[in-house]
Amino acid sequence: MIDRYGRIIDYLRISVTDRCNLRCVYCMPAEGVPWKPHGDMLSFEEILRLCAVMAGLGINKVKITGGEPLVRKGVAGFIMRLRTIPGIEQVTITTNGLLLEEFFDEAGGVIVDGVNISLDTLDPERFSKVTRTTPGAFANGQGLPAILRALDRAQSLGIPVKLNCVPIRGFNEADLPGMAALARTKALTVRFIELMPLGSGDALEPIPGAEVAALLERVYGAMVPYSGKLGNGPAEYYILPGFAGKIGFINAVSEGFCEHCNRLRLSSSGVLMPCLSSDSGMDLRSLLRGGASDADLRAAVAELAAQKPPSHNFSAVYEREQTKHKSGMYHIGG
Ligand code: 5AD
Ligand code: SF4
Repeated sequence: MIDRYGRIIDYLRISVTDRCNLRCVYCMPAEGVPWKPHGDMLSFEEILRLCAVMAGLGINKVKITGGEPLVRKGVAGFIMRLRTIPGIEQVTITTNGLLLEEFFDEAGGVIVDGVNISLDTLDPERFSKVTRTTPGAFANGQGLPAILRALDRAQSLGIPVKLNCVPIRGFNEADLPGMAALARTKALTVRFIELMPLGSGDALEPIPGAEVAALLERVYGAMVPYSGKLGNGPAEYYILPGFAGKIGFINAVSEGFCEHCNRLRLSSSGVLMPCLSSDSGMDLRSLLRGGASDADLRAAVAELAAQKPPSHNFSAVYEREQTKHKSGMYHIGG
């Protein structure tokens, strides 16, 4: 699919659930989100059908997200089936890592082409603060240690790993050099994602990517832009002297990246959204359950893709505080 602005749409992000086993300050409200009745969520069958239709329209890369995708039962089996759809060439997952070891056990082999782990700090106390968990919430090596074990396991399986870190003033600025240092000895990518004013992120103060970059350069030396291809998204990558891995920046708000946007987003309840900042989209669930044919679904997806806006409106939000984005990432899947 090519949209009105000449952008090739070949990437679909699928949120398989709004639920999450954490409550990150920039994503979920402290009390969590109301649980949708099970029937509101698309079944895996329904998602697979949509994916087959969209593969026919040129979607060839899929990211599985949430909420936390690994809290939904049967995700590994679902991904295995997704991979058999003709035209789907790449399936990756974004997870908080808590259940990732179990996912690898269940998968019994390599079933994803990449894993993004959301991790904002290596300090147990600040981990509790950012994820709003009580310090004793995780017993028996669960929690942060489990995430780090899963990270090493992914690497030993040869699965490319990216860590997503959201710098927030007053929460994790002290951790940023330490987070970057994971890429010193490990061949993985640490990405700093600018806090977006979505959901409860609205009330927090972002640390702009340029400020993070300057801080890292003071500690580790000058960064050199990396020109190779890494991933499908808007991040810019750099190499620090002596580092085995890469450092990435997604300067979503300060720089804007919409010009090259290649994606659509499917919510867990089956709403296809054209943009991260969209508050509405195409209700594919009603179409699916109303007996739509594949041709009807195709037409609906193509119509939605044609509505993709030229850019998100977060800067407008920052400057004028006009539009409030009600949903956090748990709803739109990042
Ligand atoms: N701003 C920036 N990043 C966010 N994420 C979740 N909410 C926000 C927000 N308000 C991140 C998560 C995850 C990725 C998909 O998006 O940390 O890694
Ligand atoms: Fe859960 Fe991810 Fe949202 Fe944190 S950012 S609450 S891990 S969905």
